[in-house]
Amino acid sequence: MRFAYTLWAPIYDRLVEKPTQELRRQSLANLGDVLDQYVLMIGIGTGLDLPHLPNGAHYYGLDLTPAMLEKARLRAQALDISIELREGNAMDLPFTDEQFDVVILHTILAVVSDPDKALAEASRVLKPGGRLLVADKFLKPGDSAPLRRLLGFVLRPIATRTDVVFEYLLKKRPELAVIRDEPSLLGGWFRCIQLEKSTQAVPS
Ligand SMILES: C[S@@+](CC[C@H](N)C(=O)[O-])C[C@H]1O[C@@H](n2cnc3c(N)ncnc32)[C@H](O)[C@@H]1O
Repeated sequence: MRFAYTLWAPIYDRLVEKPTQELRRQSLANLGDVLDQYVLMIGIGTGLDLPHLPNGAHYYGLDLTPAMLEKARLRAQALDISIELREGNAMDLPFTDEQFDVVILHTILAVVSDPDKALAEASRVLKPGGRLLVADKFLKPGDSAPLRRLLGFVLRPIATRTDVVFEYLLKKRPELAVIRDEPSLLGGWFRCIQLEKSTQAVPS
């Protein structure tokens, strides 16, 4: 994916910014008061979420692709947002356990090769009681969705998967509870999901 997104980087904003603006607004409306909190964006891309963020949090961004990160760096600079940007893999995060109050996963869970591992990692670095904001395209359990699955054959090697069922990912993470699950773009193919990590130890 690093190679693919290196090629996407120069045109990503032109293709993605407008169509996903409402999705970002909808998801980040759930951010609430994050004053002095630690907030991580996994797969931050070119930083299209940055204009929607409130001031006062400690922001971190991680991405696999240096060309995307460079765009995020320039955007943060232009917006005067202080953020620590790091190259890394969503499936093996370079952060310690329970480091963040909020983790944002915008169009990344359906991009990585192992979404189970990426969600497990996001949960690991989240503090008990912390929140996860997910915005992505997911199938529902039992959806046959032949057209979307077919599209996946084309898109998977160059951009994104189309076959991820969020409920199956969640089944493996009993410490995460759904607080909100709202339909968004393309008739609800894209969803904005808010999760909270349990403050109690949960048997897996
Ligand atoms: C569809 S873009 C989403 C970018 C951004 N979150 C947004 O909403 O515009 C997917 C991003 O995930 C990054 N990516 C792909 N695989 C990754 C991985 N294993 N770990 C971290 N980032 C990854 C890509 O480089 C790209 O920037």
